[in-house]
Amino acid sequence: MDNALRLGIAGLGTVGTGVLDILKSHGGTLATRAGRPIALTAVSARTRKKDRGHDLSKVDWFDDPVALAAAPNVDVVVELIGGEAGAAKQTVETALANGKHVVTANKALLAHHGVALAKAAEAKGVSLNFEAAVAGGIPVIKTLREGLAGNAVRKVFGIMNGTCNYILTKMADEGRSFADVLAEAQRLGYAEADPTFDVGGFDTAHKLAILTSLAFGTQVNVESIAIEGIEAITLEDIRNAAELGYKIKLLGVAVAHAEGIEQRVHATLVPKGSPVSETDGVFNAVVVKGDFVGDLMLEGRGAGSHPTASAVVADVVDIARGFRLPTFGIPAARLRPYVSAPQMAHEGGFYVSLTLHDRPGAVASVARILADEQISIESIVQRGAASSETARATAPFILITHNTLEPAIRKAIARIEKDGHVVGNPRVIRIERL
Ligand code: HSE
Repeated sequence: MDNALRLGIAGLGTVGTGVLDILKSHGGTLATRAGRPIALTAVSARTRKKDRGHDLSKVDWFDDPVALAAAPNVDVVVELIGGEAGAAKQTVETALANGKHVVTANKALLAHHGVALAKAAEAKGVSLNFEAAVAGGIPVIKTLREGLAGNAVRKVFGIMNGTCNYILTKMADEGRSFADVLAEAQRLGYAEADPTFDVGGFDTAHKLAILTSLAFGTQVNVESIAIEGIEAITLEDIRNAAELGYKIKLLGVAVAHAEGIEQRVHATLVPKGSPVSETDGVFNAVVVKGDFVGDLMLEGRGAGSHPTASAVVADVVDIARGFRLPTFGIPAARLRPYVSAPQMAHEGGFYVSLTLHDRPGAVASVARILADEQISIESIVQRGAASSETARATAPFILITHNTLEPAIRKAIARIEKDGHVVGNPRVIRIERL
């Protein structure tokens, strides 16, 4: 065991326990693949008493993960605490400062401090690996950093949050409420400690910022991402979209334009039958458009104990093999400064859901405003008024536009809202025709 790679795991929650499961199941195979044994020598977690189904009696226990990060019997610190600051950040910084390799699943930390941490790793000649930070078990970091090194990437997008995809899928397939399915996703270990990170789109934004840096060779920049979550999506939106030939997915999208980079996270209508639309449940899908390879889509489980642990262990094996790459594929000092594309560069179709007063001229007024703004309609659904007394005077009106520029649709909606025929707030969802 003299040449064993010694692991210290900080954080024994859903993913940490999954790592223990893999080490137990595949210890011998991993040693063969890596050319040396991988030995767990230290752990840190909030409570020692919890039964995790593993004998940890021979492993050093640290109440403080930062102390684990400095322990002499640890070569690789596996940081599974989570969060952009606090103990997670201190643990990673301490490990790197002590010349230890780091494997982390912490997307928030990398999205906010990725460049500084990459520099710290380079300064000590150690690895900072983070396959598990994006899209769970899908090897998307390896794909961008290694497999697509021969390409210029112009666009990367996908479904990167298992919790949101699970919620949207179950709402669509089973007609269940948002809150009910979110509780189930939490029970299954998909959601973040604070699930508003999932449903508010922030988790997807963290992952997108990392992919953007790898894809375009720019500094990580999460601050410039326009973020919308799925909290406002209703069962009615999902049903309307289905009727019109679409599904609703939470997408992260990054595009390299001549003027700069566009990054956005929002619920999106995608045509049924498109590959991303078929990615359901906890599955994630990442699409990369490379100039020589063409379009590539990777799909797999984006959350959960074992899929995410699978990515963590792959990073550990790379380190055991002595395989080391710059964190974001090129030396940190050569990452280009991030330049944002002008706001609202998006051009595409839009789903618009309105509640109109059920009276002559209402639809005509909406159509006139859209025509004024040069927006062409692809399809319309107008339902009869509902049966209750209060609802009788109003009618849902849903339309899909052909491709248009975002400023035009926003201007049209502002005019429609002021025109006196609409009740409540119009709902607008972007369409990606993929
Ligand atoms: N909460 C995340 C998700 C876990 O649902 O995708 C994986 O990052």
